[in-house]
Amino acid sequence: MNMNIKEIREDFPILDSGIIYMDSAATSLTPEPVLDAVLDYYRNYNANVGRGVYKLTQIASQKYEDAHKTVAKFIGTTSNELIFTKNTTEGINTVASGIGLKKEDKVVVSLWEHHSNLLPWIRAKKTLGIDLEVVKPNAISEGEAKTQCALETSDFVDAIDKKTKIVAITHVSNALGSILPVKEISKLCAESNALLLVDAAQSVPHMKIDVRDMGCDFLAFSGHKMLGPTGIGGLVIKEELMDEMEPLTVGGGAVEDVSFADYRLKQSYEKFESGTPNIAGAMGLSAAVEYLEGIGMEKVRAWEEKQGKRIIEELRELDNVEIYGYGSEAFERGQRIGVVSFNVKGVNPIEVASRLDTEASITVRSGHHCCIPLMNYLGLGAEGTVRSSVYLYNTEAEVETFLELIRKISNS
Ligand code: ALA
Repeated sequence: MNMNIKEIREDFPILDSGIIYMDSAATSLTPEPVLDAVLDYYRNYNANVGRGVYKLTQIASQKYEDAHKTVAKFIGTTSNELIFTKNTTEGINTVASGIGLKKEDKVVVSLWEHHSNLLPWIRAKKTLGIDLEVVKPNAISEGEAKTQCALETSDFVDAIDKKTKIVAITHVSNALGSILPVKEISKLCAESNALLLVDAAQSVPHMKIDVRDMGCDFLAFSGHKMLGPTGIGGLVIKEELMDEMEPLTVGGGAVEDVSFADYRLKQSYEKFESGTPNIAGAMGLSAAVEYLEGIGMEKVRAWEEKQGKRIIEELRELDNVEIYGYGSEAFERGQRIGVVSFNVKGVNPIEVASRLDTEASITVRSGHHCCIPLMNYLGLGAEGTVRSSVYLYNTEAEVETFLELIRKISNS
């Protein structure tokens, strides 16, 4: 299942500078067809959408509608269930503020959440008094280190009960690369009549997603982590929930009728997209989806797994390197993507990241990865870890250069 990496890299001229980009979990690089789609809008059909009758706005509106269709289809749904947001954070905030949480409700999250899927719920706890339960590994079985941070469906059984209004969990941990069994967890939610929100910021860019098969009610993701522009993302809302939900913002474009006393909102995704949307961003995101589809998500995933597996196995050979999250065996079990978090013992993660940058132009993220509670659980504090995250444009030679330098740092 090989991809033509050389050909792919030609679409990313930023790589000509010699940079070895291994921070795609933070944001991915942007290929030329995506940039072309953004510019094409501004150059050739720059008009607002859903307003007016002239030809240019009709073209823009049609293409904006088509972008919804393309992106929705990519994740196994239809455009009436997909709203465009600014990013995953905005999607999750839309859900947290829109489902009518009340004091007596319980919200369940997991230890793996990044701040985007924690703060909206902590705020609800502070302002509404909801009960917020964090699912942590129930038991560390023999031979299983705490650094693995393993979470299984069984860990959620006691937490999800009749009081639970919503379970809000990440699909893939941005800090560990570990995958949660969301489909199995959705069955627990159904038994308790609880809603399920999946934070798919780190899964939609890296694997084939089918929202309906997953069985969730909401799914949030960001465009900029999947080759799209910044400032555009998606939130899937199950159709039957759209009517009763309150949008995050209200205003122009979202209404059927308005008086000075009241308004009647549209009953479609437009209800959630008040104000002029990020039209160019939507065009870019749609082009990113077409780009990924052109390559094939199975190939993208297989390539990343191969690189991630190699990184874990080589790092494991180094005595003074500690890896967090599952080992390489987890790839076969479908429990991992290519993100690798690690530390070189005795060396601050910032120093490791700086040396990678200054000595070989390798970009990795260091620190808490917007997961301070998880880092605290691991006993790391805000210093956190070094995190490498590969994508479809990384070569085996780049991975080798990265490993060489880590070997050198860990020996010095
Ligand atoms: N959540 C992003 C990351 O993991 C920003 O780096």
